[in-house]
Amino acid sequence: MHILTAIAAVSSSWGIGKNGDLLFNIPEDKKFFRRTTLNHTVIMGRKTLESLPGGKPFKDRNNIVLSRNTDFAPEGVTVCHDVREVLGIIKNEDAFVVGGGEIYRLMLPYCAKAIITKIDSTPDADTFFPDLDNSANWTLAEQSEEYEYEDLKYRFCTYENTENEVLRY
Ligand SMILES: NC(=O)c1ccc[n+]([C@@H]2O[C@H](COP(=O)([O-])OP(=O)(O)OC[C@H]3O[C@@H](n4cnc5c(N)ncnc54)[C@H](OP(=O)(O)O)[C@@H]3O)[C@@H](O)[C@H]2O)c1
Repeated sequence: MHILTAIAAVSSSWGIGKNGDLLFNIPEDKKFFRRTTLNHTVIMGRKTLESLPGGKPFKDRNNIVLSRNTDFAPEGVTVCHDVREVLGIIKNEDAFVVGGGEIYRLMLPYCAKAIITKIDSTPDADTFFPDLDNSANWTLAEQSEEYEYEDLKYRFCTYENTENEVLRY
């Protein structure tokens, strides 16, 4: 069985971004993201693609980018214009939803799992991940010990979607 997993780094208030950028830069979390998604398909919104260094897709991953703009055709990515198109492409593999706010909200009902790096800090944010601690069908299944980087404390948490019908797509 193949599943779709959301992966994100969130603040204590589930903030994920501000002014088109990330809120945190934790090297171990970046490595964790790379290790987890490497050689898989990653799904993101057009704004997240544009926020990456040089607007370039993630290396060594199959990049799917959602945009409503039918003229949008950047190099090295597969552009999809709606969720159905995305689900059609990824039906035979495990894939990861990698942001941002709009795309997490859009794709979360299709995700069986969410891997969340929870950072114990609340910087100002303008973009948020849905609060899974207060979502009826999401449950915290596992969490790591606490790690520290500079003055930031964080944990890797795994949430599971308890609505069985979303586990297969
Ligand atoms: N902390 C984290 O883990 C993390 C991860 C990723 C991103 N981020 C942050 O999140 C922020 C960006 O998030 P965002 O919410 O502004 O933008 P986003 O989700 O990255 O992209 C939004 C774009 O996706 C396209 N889109 C949205 N819904 C669609 C649909 N139903 N069908 C087709 N296309 C659709 C539209 O593109 P068009 O306008 O081209 O139509 C829309 O403008 C940045 O600050 C970034 O740094 C944080």
